[in-house]
Amino acid sequence: MVPRSQRSYTKLAKYYDAIYNHIVDYESQTSNLEKIFHDFRGRVRTILDVGCGTGNFTLIFAKRGYRTTGIDLSEDMIKVAKGKHRSSKANPEFLRMDMRDIRLNAKYDAAIAPFGGFSYLLKHEDVLEFFTSVKQRLNQDGLLIFEFWHVSGLRPESSSKNGYTSFVKAKFGHNIIIRLDTNKYDPITDICHLTFDTYILNPKTKRLSDSFSETHLLKAYSISEMRHLLEENGFNVLGFYEDSLGISKKMEPARQSSFRVLAVASA
Ligand SMILES: C[S@@+](CC[C@H](N)C(=O)[O-])C[C@H]1O[C@@H](n2cnc3c(N)ncnc32)[C@H](O)[C@@H]1O
Repeated sequence: MVPRSQRSYTKLAKYYDAIYNHIVDYESQTSNLEKIFHDFRGRVRTILDVGCGTGNFTLIFAKRGYRTTGIDLSEDMIKVAKGKHRSSKANPEFLRMDMRDIRLNAKYDAAIAPFGGFSYLLKHEDVLEFFTSVKQRLNQDGLLIFEFWHVSGLRPESSSKNGYTSFVKAKFGHNIIIRLDTNKYDPITDICHLTFDTYILNPKTKRLSDSFSETHLLKAYSISEMRHLLEENGFNVLGFYEDSLGISKKMEPARQSSFRVLAVASA
């Protein structure tokens, strides 16, 4: 059975935490980000979490005493984030908003886009709009920290005719989630077509209770390209790190083989 195709981060929102809580160590990655704050700015009290998704980083930072705002393009992801916020003592703000047009009055000591949001900017104009918009929301010497997909770290099989397929298995209540991820990279545009074919299965009855497919388009960048884009837009580049999604507690400089890279810049 071929799952029905959906817009990105609509149906996935409901299953997002069950899948990604096994892939990202959110607590430890938050500590890594705090190390970056400490090394490059010292005091950070206010954080804008861009592409916050279901609000994991926003909530953890809020619980650690920061004033946080989370913004995301997907209504469904923001709905999940708000639901978690209501059951938490922390007090972040969650708003549906496009990172290319950030309409907020407050200014922040740091803007973060860890894990995913930035690579959804496919065109040069999108990146320009995001950098212009986020810069206006940063205090003096405010930090911009975001993750992006690194061209030279992509699996070589991603460029093949059928792309590179891997799978994810996770628990969802009494059911299990099986997700087939196929990444097809176009070296002409540097755009990855990432298809998630997702099946929710009852392991006892062996019946499917849900299935859907989402195709996400993400652009990969080289580090020199990213440095150029940041500098062209008036940011001071502070470093590029290998992004382990919190699995490693050490922040190592990015290498040619790094797939996810964390860019650190100041306004
Ligand atoms: C992989 S998820 C990451 C969510 C969250 N940062 C986390 O670590 O769990 C990427 C998020 O970026 C959001 N996103 C994509 N394009 C966006 C845009 N133009 N403006 C705001 N959010 C966007 C998606 O809706 C999605 O929730």
